[in-house]
Amino acid sequence: MSGTGQSDDPRELKAGGTLQGRVKVPGDKSISHRSLLFGAIAEGTTTIDGLLPAEDPLSTAACLRAMGVTISPITDGGIVTVEGVGLDGLQEPAEVLDCGNSGTTMRLMLGLLAGRDGRHFVLDGDASLRRRPMRRVGQPLASMGADVRGRDGGNLAPLAVQGRQLKGTVIGTPVASAQVKSALLLAALTAESPTTVIEPAQSRDHSERMLKAFGADLTVGGEMGRHISVRPGATLRGQNVVVPGDISSAAFWLVAGALIPGADLTIENVGLNPTRTGILEVLEQMGARIEVLNPRDVAGEPVGDLRVTHSPLKPFHFGEEIMPRLVDEVPILSVAACFCEGESRISGASELRVKETDRLAVMARQLKAMGADIDEHDDGMTIRGGRPLKGAVLDSETDHRVAMSLGVAAMLADGNSSLARSEAAAVSYPSFWDELERLRC
Ligand code: S3P
Repeated sequence: MSGTGQSDDPRELKAGGTLQGRVKVPGDKSISHRSLLFGAIAEGTTTIDGLLPAEDPLSTAACLRAMGVTISPITDGGIVTVEGVGLDGLQEPAEVLDCGNSGTTMRLMLGLLAGRDGRHFVLDGDASLRRRPMRRVGQPLASMGADVRGRDGGNLAPLAVQGRQLKGTVIGTPVASAQVKSALLLAALTAESPTTVIEPAQSRDHSERMLKAFGADLTVGGEMGRHISVRPGATLRGQNVVVPGDISSAAFWLVAGALIPGADLTIENVGLNPTRTGILEVLEQMGARIEVLNPRDVAGEPVGDLRVTHSPLKPFHFGEEIMPRLVDEVPILSVAACFCEGESRISGASELRVKETDRLAVMARQLKAMGADIDEHDDGMTIRGGRPLKGAVLDSETDHRVAMSLGVAAMLADGNSSLARSEAAAVSYPSFWDELERLRC
């Protein structure tokens, strides 16, 4: 059954207990997608150590295989090899490319495929992905000469891409989105002339780091790395990529460890790229006790082990400025706010409404079912924390990060809960529920 499928029975979530021990979170989802994609269009073999064996990267791998790329089986703990077909070697697929639940797959594929002159591609996804806005990629690609069509004036999947020779240009993106930026950088690799992408604020920079390592002619400039330029023509060469653990998966353990009395967790091998560490800044603001152990650099990305122990937490405020650095951690931070005495405020978070679900609405609805005191706003929420939450009948509403956030909330509630569609966690963290049981004591 797929992670966002609907057939499984609700999961019983026991309240109480604490969490202790060591946990190694699975590979970073963003870096996993990119290693497959860049490996596919490089010359020669790419090896990937630590690739996330979850549904989203499997969607990227399946699309690439459908275009003639040989990728070895993706298993837990195994090294994956990708036999690159070169910048122009992707074949026209016989079937629709199925991006599953993965926005990163669909958006990066649009950029990758728009410049494959003369070839035709159709991209589709599950019910959630079919609701997510794609014009944010299609429109800037159109300014490079791309032909992307879909429902709602090209905004919604299924999308048809008629590959064309693209021209380089200067593009200001309307949202700080690494998915949009990365799509444009991929398109720029085979454009006729150089391209510069200018973001309103810097989003995660894994594409820039990894494309450079693969040999792309890419420069980062401007205030806070917001201007990224690509000169076409460089050959990408296969690399040995080591994928660090995903800080967005570590976030569930960080918040649980900080909130749950008696908790003491060490999360190993966590990627600490500064464009991703907003969660640590907010937890520090809250007074959480987190130590970074053994900081090191692994294949161009900063990495460390994080030890978190329980401590009393203060409420927090954060807004638009930090959002690109913690966009995926807002659901678990909304859980944290429920358990801190006082009022926490999240603003500048309207992007949350166009994620796998409308995460502001879904988190508010589910936490209110547990008795939380939350006002939802257009761009965020106000949470008055400190009153006990009660066990309830919960639903992930098919969203992986909602599922895991509610798993942490349920542990802290008075009374047991049940969670429908808990299997959504497999989109980014297939072993989450097993790990939760293993660490519980
Ligand atoms: C991602 C970027 C983020 C994030 C998503 C993964 C990526 O989306 O929410 O989970 O891999 O580039 P946006 O760039 O659209 O904010």
